[in-house]
Amino acid sequence: MGAQPYYGPDFGMLRSRDPEIAQILIDELDRARAGIQLIASENFTSPAVLAALGSTLTNKYAEGYPGRRYYGGCEVVDRAERLAVERARALFGAEHANVQPHSGASANLAAYAALLQPGDTMLAMALPHGGHLTHGSKVNFSGRWFDVVSYGVRRDTELIDLDEVRDLALRHRPKLIVCGATAYPRLIDYQLFRGIADEVGAWLLADVAHPVGLMAGGAIPSAVPYADVVTFTTHKTLRGPRGGAILCTGELAGKIDRAVFPFVQGGPLMHVVAAKAVAFGEAMRPEFAGYARQVVANARVLADALAAEGMRAVSGGTDTHLALIDLRGLGVTGAEAERRCAAAGITLNRNAVPYDPEPPAVTSGIRVGTPCVTTQGMGSQELKEIGSLVTRAVRYPGSSAEVRERVAALLAIHRPYLSEY
Ligand SMILES: Cc1ncc(COP(=O)(O)O)c(C=O)c1O
Repeated sequence: MGAQPYYGPDFGMLRSRDPEIAQILIDELDRARAGIQLIASENFTSPAVLAALGSTLTNKYAEGYPGRRYYGGCEVVDRAERLAVERARALFGAEHANVQPHSGASANLAAYAALLQPGDTMLAMALPHGGHLTHGSKVNFSGRWFDVVSYGVRRDTELIDLDEVRDLALRHRPKLIVCGATAYPRLIDYQLFRGIADEVGAWLLADVAHPVGLMAGGAIPSAVPYADVVTFTTHKTLRGPRGGAILCTGELAGKIDRAVFPFVQGGPLMHVVAAKAVAFGEAMRPEFAGYARQVVANARVLADALAAEGMRAVSGGTDTHLALIDLRGLGVTGAEAERRCAAAGITLNRNAVPYDPEPPAVTSGIRVGTPCVTTQGMGSQELKEIGSLVTRAVRYPGSSAEVRERVAALLAIHRPYLSEY
């Protein structure tokens, strides 16, 4: 290691020890830099988050919680977890935070384990209408282990049908109501969900995996005052490391903590916990509020630009970081649009639209999101341009080389990891 003390990521060391993996790291960064990333669930973490992720904290076993570990030598990593918890609580005004879930799916698994027994009834949003796999899909533990009743969006407005939610709640008396989605562009009325949950004596869980960064930055209303439990991911709009976290009332703190460890997980990933603390700290800064507002403004500009070219935004627009685009007017499937955009240097994903006649592997829509491009410093002018590039790529597959050139021109100014932020 030479005379210099070793503290963390050393790319030169990786390159000399394992050139194959080093090359993959370079190629992935090049891939991300060579295209426009419109995947709504992705972002570019800061170099500070990456440094914490690449640290020696990955070596430490720390089963348990700060001050109550099942391993010795945890006094230093305890400080990282305490900071992460304190920052999460302060950022969201929550009574309790658990920062150990390895992912959003693990956070949901732990939250359900804390509140339900196998066979209990829960009410959640249907996957084809924007809900997540962990909200009761038959191919997921949630659909296998619980009796799941699903609600969806109305055909006419494409907004969550709150009358249906209330009717289903009264009829099925679920023990848990889940609100939150993976492909829903509008605000969710957590207060109304709270009222329905209270009416039937159910717990309310808000899964804000997607919009959590917008809540942290104050760009949209928070679910925390209304839900008993809030689960989220740290790597989407929040711009932190890949991971999950749970906020809850003081009343549920013990149940949630015991569900995460020892029920669902073993040792926490302490390097990720430290990186979560870094991300929470970044989200507390005033610049992050500006970022969150810009993400939403950019999504609106993008949705409008696409709509102007015949690519209809489901529900007529967006209030968040993402838009769901119905391509049936163009006669192009979601899968085909995804391929055409990829050929033109634009990465996005196919997505079912409500009441989609196409199967999930094909779909009639695409989902576009602005967390990445906003991190790269793009504003309304660039998003208008991106809207026109997406429509050109989707409508005219022969134009991919020309679109690629315009993509390259945008990225020459707005490259990810060009500077510290
Ligand atoms: C609403 C929602 N919940 C949970 C998850 C799961 O997160 P992860 O992929 O980290 O397990 C996602 C991820 O897309 C999501 O959108």
